[in-house]
Amino acid sequence: MSKLFSPIQLRELPLSNRVVVSPMCQYSALDGAMQEWHRIHLGQMAQSGAGLVMVEASSPTPEGRITHGCVGLWDDRTEAAMASVLHSLRATSPAKLAIQIGHAGRKASSSRPWEGGQIIGLDQGGWQTWGPSAIAHMEGETIPHELSVAQLKSLTEAFLSTVARADRLGFDAIELHAAHGYLLHEFLSPIANQRQDAYGGSLENRMRFPLQLFTAMRAAWPAHKPMGLRLSATDWVEGSGWDIADACEFARRLEYLGADWIDVSSGGVSRAQQIKLGPGYQVPFAQAIKAVVKIPVIAVGLITEAKQAESILENNQADMVALGRGFLWDPHWAWKAAAELGASIAAPRQYWRSNPAQYKDVFGSIRFGAR
Ligand SMILES: Cc1cc2nc3c(=O)[nH]c(=O)nc-3n(C[C@H](O)[C@H](O)[C@H](O)COP(=O)(O)O)c2cc1C
Repeated sequence: MSKLFSPIQLRELPLSNRVVVSPMCQYSALDGAMQEWHRIHLGQMAQSGAGLVMVEASSPTPEGRITHGCVGLWDDRTEAAMASVLHSLRATSPAKLAIQIGHAGRKASSSRPWEGGQIIGLDQGGWQTWGPSAIAHMEGETIPHELSVAQLKSLTEAFLSTVARADRLGFDAIELHAAHGYLLHEFLSPIANQRQDAYGGSLENRMRFPLQLFTAMRAAWPAHKPMGLRLSATDWVEGSGWDIADACEFARRLEYLGADWIDVSSGGVSRAQQIKLGPGYQVPFAQAIKAVVKIPVIAVGLITEAKQAESILENNQADMVALGRGFLWDPHWAWKAAAELGASIAAPRQYWRSNPAQYKDVFGSIRFGAR
């Protein structure tokens, strides 16, 4: 029996397997609004067989977007655009859908990756960025404005309004983005947060805004729906910065506050980071966090092979496995993984004839179609 293809339940949300499509920005929104690309892209992801598909980082405000092409969910227009895409997904796939909600902080106002990814200056069509402290991500870049306590309150309101929109859209789950050097990670890390008030200094103070925000969002999100958080387990900066011990403490607090999963990524806050890349390079961090919480932990990062994913679960290093690039490369990754692991998977009837004879049991009998 494959563990990867065994069901799991997050709060009252049943997932048919433990494979997750990791959130992936498409840099293709029109002034924050999803468009046809998202329908096709997410359509593919929704047919992938993954139990949970996470929609890319979506911003609660226009200035919280990473790039001009990032998705937002801040007004009726952006909500309607997402509703249209979700309608197509719901009509064609039983995949459970989560939305990642995040604010880019001082890394906002960047160009798209295929345009270089650098910060766009105010004089080049960029916008003023915000952060915990007035410290640029890189010397020479736009210096973010330090968010005042009053602004943290209004930003929290913006997140809550996005939570209400996500519920109205029928999302099954929310992931709060607190990784990769974006706003919440910037609060957590002493590299980006040098505030002198109750939101900076000690670990307790640096965790304050992320935990307050999580608490407020959890209270606003329906009690039966799950909500988790993605964190960076380390800044990968030796001797300074946020590290795995801090991340474990943060995860413990989140569990206490009702988090339903911790999605364990790393890095992104400092240009001085020294990432040790390799297959499954973030799995040891997931394992360390799993040792201190009881809620499910998601491992992600260069997990590309079915047996590799299966062994992460077998070895009790994580409870679920997310893939990003693996799904872009092969949107049917989960079908093939199920075949390799001797499991069965829900696939659309229209594609059943593609099932290779040697894997005749791969496609399960779960009804696949409009719900
Ligand atoms: C095109 C692309 C866009 C991404 N956008 C997001 C995002 O919106 N939110 C996020 O938390 N991570 C984002 N990531 C990171 C992935 O979710 C994932 O954690 C990372 O790619 C490592 O997993 P992988 O090796 O399976 O790709 C993105 C990655 C890629 C390749």
